[in-house]
Amino acid sequence: MNILVMHGPNLNLLGTREPGVYGAVTMDEINAALTAYAAEHGAEVRCLQSNHEGGLIDALHEARGWAQGVIINPGGYTHTSVALRDAISAVALPVIEVHLSNVHAREPFRHTSLIAPVCVGQICGLGWIGYRLALEALLARDEG
Ligand code: DQA
Repeated sequence: MNILVMHGPNLNLLGTREPGVYGAVTMDEINAALTAYAAEHGAEVRCLQSNHEGGLIDALHEARGWAQGVIINPGGYTHTSVALRDAISAVALPVIEVHLSNVHAREPFRHTSLIAPVCVGQICGLGWIGYRLALEALLARDEG
């Protein structure tokens, strides 16, 4: 099984970005952990980050030819992007939305996700482990 891992805007700064909110683990460390976990389970991940809505949408379109599942932390686009939501609907791949922080315990504008209704599920508030749980869930879906 091939899984695309997508990090949205500002997540390239993990490790130094508001560590009290997002933790001290860097994006590269998350990617390395996911790559290792996938390899242990006979799967492959590709990881990418973009600070641009269109970059994330292009990557989703391209994923159709390769991935059987997607893990996405859309960052701030979670709360604003109709276009990203439409892209997820359009590619018809199983997508899991992940947030490091518990968005529901934060500012009211973070309580709404335009993305969650077109995902198979959402994981938030568990820090970087949430990505690994999402990967586990996609692999389990594949096994039936
Ligand atoms: C985030 C939560 C979003 O509200 C925020 O804009 C981010 C990170 C998280 O992982 O907790 O950039 O997606």
